[in-house]
Amino acid sequence: MTGSRKLYVKSFGCQMNVYDSQRMADTLAPEGYVETAAPEDADLIILNTCHIREKAAEKVYSELGRMRRLKEAASADGRNLLIAVAGCVAQAEGGEIVRRAPAVDLVVGSQNYHRLPQLIARAEREGRIVDTEFPLDDKFDHLAVPGRAATRARGVTAFVTVQEGCDKFCSFCVVPYTRGAETSRAVEKITAEVERLADAGVREVTLIGQNVNAYHGEGPDGRAWSLAKLLTHLARLSGIERLRYTTSHPLDMSEDLIAAHRDLPALMPQLHLPAQSGSDRILAAMNRRHTRADYVRVVSRLRKARPDMALTSDFIVGFPGESDNDFAATLGLVGEIGYAGAFSFKYSPRPGTPGADMDAQVDEAAKSGRLHRLQEAIDRNQAAFNRRCIGRTLSVLFEKPGRHDGQIVGRSPYLQPVQIEAPASLIGEIAAVTVTDVGSNSLFGALAQKPSQVPVLAGAGA
Ligand code: SAH
Ligand code: SF4
Ligand code: F3S
Repeated sequence: MTGSRKLYVKSFGCQMNVYDSQRMADTLAPEGYVETAAPEDADLIILNTCHIREKAAEKVYSELGRMRRLKEAASADGRNLLIAVAGCVAQAEGGEIVRRAPAVDLVVGSQNYHRLPQLIARAEREGRIVDTEFPLDDKFDHLAVPGRAATRARGVTAFVTVQEGCDKFCSFCVVPYTRGAETSRAVEKITAEVERLADAGVREVTLIGQNVNAYHGEGPDGRAWSLAKLLTHLARLSGIERLRYTTSHPLDMSEDLIAAHRDLPALMPQLHLPAQSGSDRILAAMNRRHTRADYVRVVSRLRKARPDMALTSDFIVGFPGESDNDFAATLGLVGEIGYAGAFSFKYSPRPGTPGADMDAQVDEAAKSGRLHRLQEAIDRNQAAFNRRCIGRTLSVLFEKPGRHDGQIVGRSPYLQPVQIEAPASLIGEIAAVTVTDVGSNSLFGALAQKPSQVPVLAGAGA
């Protein structure tokens, strides 16, 4: 294609970055940028970065070392390769990145992606640019939406950012600094985006936000709508069969949201509800603003509304001051809740957060030992949850071909990957699958004999 330039975007970190990366590509498409999966062919490389733990941030610098060599190779070929750093490391470190990594032409903060076309043109003209202001205009009002073909190519499930930023200030976390204050998008804009996705064949939408259940966007009636009200509204849109949302804070698990899990068939019985720790002392030091009992109470209300609710969590081990007893309380919570899965991390002190300056930092060996024990406990939970699905018939939305010929893969209501032997024509469809076996992460099964007579949601039992 004449005049077209190639764009390579690499996303690190959370789903918000995945969503933003797609919007950046959509915004650059009218400028003649076509996406490529091969960085060595690119004219513009964007690294969309994550700052959540030290390892995540360091990954960016090792990636930038590789990029420098690509840039040198391009220049030996007489091509100019532009390198941009976006996302949370860009927001947190700004000009420091250009000092540490001379190959970088542009540093663009998490709220400025709509300015990319102008910033790139300026970087080409004037040389290196850093833009990490929090602007007054809303990037979502200016970012391009994908065309039908691009949406189709991305598959039958999609993320939609409905909320961004965080006002909670947990004492370990950089997000309030890298993403700014909590804001919610207006209901009408979200609805238009979801309608467009449905029109292009998307069947399942996951609403995303750093604290998605704190959503309070303006509704068509001029009032602030809750997440439950938004979900109820979106569930009525034709074509949208399944809704999910992530990530939620236990404090914002309101009564109407819990009731939505009882009342909305499209709302999947699955929730990522990070607990971080099972010890009240550590939860207080983390500034989580809830106790272990509060968390357990929210879970039992959820399970009353929807008995087969699959819960997942994040945990941090080795937060400053965490004793063996505190850690034992976390193990105890895992046993008490019975998770369908969870992520666990060693505490990583982040510059500028209160946790980094706290006394009694836990040593690395203790953190590693605790992480190992916690992961074993979580794996046992997950295996037990998956085993309880054997013999049950679950509704599965098929997303793509499987690893082997003749296989297709989809997700259960509980978000487990499900692999079966079936024709590829089922991709994009929801069908009933009887589970016959479980692997370490996936379920295996076969199409149920009479799909229409099988209840769409057969509970996994909690
Ligand atoms: N908004 C979400 C999670 C944001 S970050 C929430 O409120 O829970 C994703 C996960 O990274 C967190 O849940 C936490 O478990 C982990 N995390 C955040 N900061 C961390 C740090 N400094 N060290 C280790 N893990 C961290
Ligand atoms: Fe970070 Fe806490 Fe906000 Fe989650 S709620 S993004 S962990 S500050
Ligand atoms: Fe990472 Fe930023 Fe997401 S720090 S987890 S990319 S909000």
